[in-house]
Amino acid sequence: MAQAPFIPPTVGVFDSGFGGLTVLRALIALAPQAQYAFIGDTARLPYGSKSRRTIARYAAQSARFLVEEQGAEYLVIACNTASALALDAIQEAVPSSVPVIGVIEPGAEAARQASATRDVLVIATDATVQSHAYAAACQARGLRALEKACPLLVPLVEEGWVASPVTNDSMALQTSAATKQQAVTADVVRIYVEELRADAHAMSMEPDSLVLGCTHYPLLKPVIEGLIPPTIKIIDSAAAAANELVMHLSRDRHALAAPASSGTRLCFFATDSVEKFERLGSRFLGRQVNNVQLVDLGG
Ligand code: DGL
Repeated sequence: MAQAPFIPPTVGVFDSGFGGLTVLRALIALAPQAQYAFIGDTARLPYGSKSRRTIARYAAQSARFLVEEQGAEYLVIACNTASALALDAIQEAVPSSVPVIGVIEPGAEAARQASATRDVLVIATDATVQSHAYAAACQARGLRALEKACPLLVPLVEEGWVASPVTNDSMALQTSAATKQQAVTADVVRIYVEELRADAHAMSMEPDSLVLGCTHYPLLKPVIEGLIPPTIKIIDSAAAAANELVMHLSRDRHALAAPASSGTRLCFFATDSVEKFERLGSRFLGRQVNNVQLVDLGG
C-alpha cells in the first residue's frame, strides 16, 4: 500500500519585531518537520511601552493574519509582552481549535526547574513588568520573582548593537564603530543588572536564576553572562516554548520527524522594511532570512 504523503503542520509565529526569531530557531531545532510562517510587526514595535488595549489589538491582527491567510494550525506567541497582556485576546481572535502557546508560562516553568533557592530575577519590557505576569506565574510555582523593566534593551538589540551569537562576527568586531556600539550596550546592561541585584539584596533574596523575559534578550546573553556570578543561571523561554509545541504536535499525532529530503519550510512577513528584516533577522535566526514579504495589517 502506498504511504500517505507527509503533510507538515503549519505553525504561525508572531513577534512585535525580530526577537521572536530566537524562538523560531528553537522551534526549528525541536520540530523541523513543521512549516513556519513568522510575522514581525516591525512597523508598530515596540509593544513594550504600549497599553494592554493597544497590544491586544495589534497582536490579534497578527494572529488572524497567520491563521486566516497563512493557514496556521498552531500559534506561538514569540513575544513576552503580547504573551503577558494579550494571550486571551489572541485566543479569542482565532478559532478555539488553534492552540495558542505563549512564552511566559514555559519561562516560569523553566525557572522552577532551574532554581534551588526559589528566588528568581526577571528582566523584561515595561508592559510585561507592569502586568506582573511573570511574578504570578512564578508564585504559582512556589517561586519568588523580582521583576525589572529594561526599556533601553530592545532598541539596542533592534539596531544590531550586539555581537552576533550565531555567526562569526569577527568582521564586525574589527570595526571600531561596532566595538563602540557593543561597549554602550554592555554599559546599559550593567546598570540594569546592578540595580536589579541591589534590589534583590535589599529584599534579602538569594536569586540563582535570571529569566530573560523578552525575546530580544537572548541576543544579549553573552553580555549578561559576563555581568552576573556563575551561580545565577540564565533562563530563556524559547526552548521551553518549543517543548510545548512538540507536546501539541505529538498529541495531535503529527509525525515527529520530517522525511530526510525535506528541509523546514519558512515564510517571513514584516509590517515595515523587509530589507532591515532580512539584514538583522539572520543574526537572530542563525541562518539566512530571505524573501520577507511586506504586509499591511491595517491601523
Ligand atoms: N518582543 C518583545 C517581548 O518579548 C519586546 C519588543 C517590544 O517591546 O515590542 O517582550
